[in-house]
Amino acid sequence: MIYPIVKYGQEVLERPTNPVCEFNSNLEKLVADMFETMYAANGVGLAAPQIGLPLRLSVIDVSVGEDSDAKLVLANPVIVTLEGEQAQEEGCLSLPDFRAKTPRPERVTVRAQDIHGQEFTKTGEGLLARALCHEIDHLDGRLFIHHVGRLKRESIKRKVRQMMKAGEW
Ligand code: NI
Repeated sequence: MIYPIVKYGQEVLERPTNPVCEFNSNLEKLVADMFETMYAANGVGLAAPQIGLPLRLSVIDVSVGEDSDAKLVLANPVIVTLEGEQAQEEGCLSLPDFRAKTPRPERVTVRAQDIHGQEFTKTGEGLLARALCHEIDHLDGRLFIHHVGRLKRESIKRKVRQMMKAGEW
């Protein structure tokens, strides 16, 4: 099932999330739906708040469906270490058509639980490091615009407000 993606401005995107406690068939269905929703939107990551659920759960696939080994389910993820810096353009399915150069660490190690509740650690560099930080941010109620300069952030917010008024958001 493909969920509608919640856009910036909805409260669920800026609230902390609740831990995943039950690793059962409902979670498997939800994760499958999140991947389906993410692929349909051509995204490389999706967090539960983006489909309206305040749950500490994200999915990532930086291969965009090309490599099944790249599929990553992150339940209750935490960042363990951060190293280096990068600053590429970043976007978000909840802020369609907006992109901004966003500083992120070059290399990140996270600890999380998989779909069965099994704990694992994962280290990512480059795009994967960026996606890990972006998706974990979502679970803490943060979006990439919180990491860009104030002027850029205000400019994006202003455009969103105009689109809301015009009924285009
Ligand atoms: Ni996002």
